[in-house]
Amino acid sequence: MTLVDGFGRVHRDLRISLTDKCSLRCTYCMPAEGVPWLERDSILTTDEIERVARVAVGLGVTEIRLTGGEPLVRKDAVEVVRRLAALGPEVSMTTNGLRLAELAVPLREAGLARVNVSLDTLDRAKFLELTRRDRLDDVLAGIEAARAAGFTPLKINAVAMRDVNEDEIVDLVRYAVSLGAQLRFIEQMPLDAGHTWDRGHMVPGSEILERLGAAFRLEPVGDRGSSPADTWTLDGGPATVGVIASVTAPFCAACDRIRITADGHVRNCLFAREESDLVPVLRGGGTDDDLVRILTSSIAAKRAGHGIDSPTFVQPIRPMSAIGG
Ligand code: 5AD
Ligand code: SF4
Repeated sequence: MTLVDGFGRVHRDLRISLTDKCSLRCTYCMPAEGVPWLERDSILTTDEIERVARVAVGLGVTEIRLTGGEPLVRKDAVEVVRRLAALGPEVSMTTNGLRLAELAVPLREAGLARVNVSLDTLDRAKFLELTRRDRLDDVLAGIEAARAAGFTPLKINAVAMRDVNEDEIVDLVRYAVSLGAQLRFIEQMPLDAGHTWDRGHMVPGSEILERLGAAFRLEPVGDRGSSPADTWTLDGGPATVGVIASVTAPFCAACDRIRITADGHVRNCLFAREESDLVPVLRGGGTDDDLVRILTSSIAAKRAGHGIDSPTFVQPIRPMSAIGG
């Protein structure tokens, strides 16, 4: 049995949020004071995460990405990696990098295959303004540690924002290239807790490419498969840059992702309006077959796409930090 939906999409990429908490307060994600955190008891235990992951692997999941909030805020993140990697799938992580200087090597030894680090600016004052924490140096040290620990390909994600970091698009790429990393620009999506997103603030992929095209010779790299990023080589390669145009060129048709929130709810889309709760099964003596039923029926109900461009689009109630990226 596989996790196949009504459009024939087979789901192989499971994203598990380890915590909704975060060590930063990025303006496009959270208000300064944070958001009402999930109850401590509602967060899945490591045993529960392992159980759900094992069932998902039995349903054909081959890749597990750990997200947050900030996944490394969770105290036993390394242990979670070790247990999930032992189940066989490729385990990767999206992190803000703050704790990577300390944890890159233990994570690697625990079996983490890849990391994506989020970094929107190389300017200390701007970083402080954007994340409300003066931690740029920690992120840079974290990225360096990830590189030194042998994480390849190392990817750096940047959300492109009008009047904030659009002038750094080329600099961010040069920085990534200098480390042998790949910069991936993401269009800003309506996922912030404050519901303040507006289209005018988003820098569309077409414009990101224009800026890049003025500094580098870009050549498209073939088929992107189920990856959301369109990739280009820079000045003939081997360095590449990616653009994830989630809003203006959605990759929903090739989506193979299923998500579990930190409190054990299955979401079939970042923008889903409905969730299926695994906790009554996990904590109520349910069987693995019960988990299979919930996972398969959630995927069976998956919509064709997020419809951000539709007039009837409604932003999900949970913010990004509670869903996982
Ligand atoms: N739009 C696009 N990307 C976002 N991220 C967080 N919020 C948004 C948003 N509203 C990114 C982070 C990180 C990943 C988890 O998702 O910058 O790279
Ligand atoms: Fe934390 Fe990521 Fe949200 Fe920034 S975007 S506050 S790093 S969860």
